[in-house]
Amino acid sequence: MTQPHASQKPSPKPLQKAVFPVAGLGTRFLPATKAQPKEMLPVVDKPLIQYAVEEAYAAGIRHMIFITGRNKRAIEDHFDTAYELENELEVAGKVALLKVLRSIQPDNMNFSYVRQHRSLGLGHAVLCAEHMVGDEPFAVLLADDLMVGNPPVLAQMAEQFAALQQSVIAVQEVPPEHTRRYGIVAGEAISPSLIKVSRIVEKPAPEDAPSHMGVAGRYILTPAVFAHIRQQSGGVGGEIQLTDGIAGLMSQEDVYAFQYQGQRYDCGSKEGFLQATVELALEHPEVGQHFRAYLQQLQLTLR
Ligand code: G1P
Repeated sequence: MTQPHASQKPSPKPLQKAVFPVAGLGTRFLPATKAQPKEMLPVVDKPLIQYAVEEAYAAGIRHMIFITGRNKRAIEDHFDTAYELENELEVAGKVALLKVLRSIQPDNMNFSYVRQHRSLGLGHAVLCAEHMVGDEPFAVLLADDLMVGNPPVLAQMAEQFAALQQSVIAVQEVPPEHTRRYGIVAGEAISPSLIKVSRIVEKPAPEDAPSHMGVAGRYILTPAVFAHIRQQSGGVGGEIQLTDGIAGLMSQEDVYAFQYQGQRYDCGSKEGFLQATVELALEHPEVGQHFRAYLQQLQLTLR
């Protein structure tokens, strides 16, 4: 066997792993989230976390790593076999429902769970995945941000990553008065949808924001980011911010912001959650048609 020449670049590592930080408390949805994870709240008939996992799967990722916390057992159960339920459905001959259940965890999908013992921020949650990710690029998906795209948003990003081999962050234009809700990036546009990032700031006040490009909850990162997250002590809200880790990474590698094609629903807010529910219900093969007719006959009046 011929050995690669010493000066030859190692072949790029494929994107195979996704990290889902799901340890957050979900206080904005109390009392619904008192005894169940916010990621298990359903939009029409599917929990938020399943939308995110399906998006990662559609991007070719097969290893799903959840950063969980206390009271998050339902997520593990959701991606496990429900033996009794499957048995009941089999006996009753409910083949279609069985298929729905089994599609949640295809045979070629692997799941790992890491506990985040303390709520120290998104950067800290991602750092908890370091030993599972190793020296490979990885995706981070925030299930609160429900993304609808065709192709799916993470698949669009994976295509960019394959070409660039550098970290790619999803961004969208946000209203100027909303900069405090997002990581905000600025940089040089190198194509209509790609910005080479020169600044990234977590939740700046509108007067301090370097642009109106807000980070949506999708990232493809190189493993070099871990060392930079580790150097963070506390950023906005006293938390270890992923945004600050990415800012550090920029001293070592290029980072790109990608304006995806698609729709983001902020399901971390009640309003965004309701918008997602209505719009996905309208597209739903089973209930869409009737639901549309129902909405049309509502006499909505402005008060
Ligand atoms: C997190 C990130 C922020 C990003 C946002 C997207 O904030 O810290 O940079 O813009 O997700 O949803 P969070 O919404 O968890 O406060």
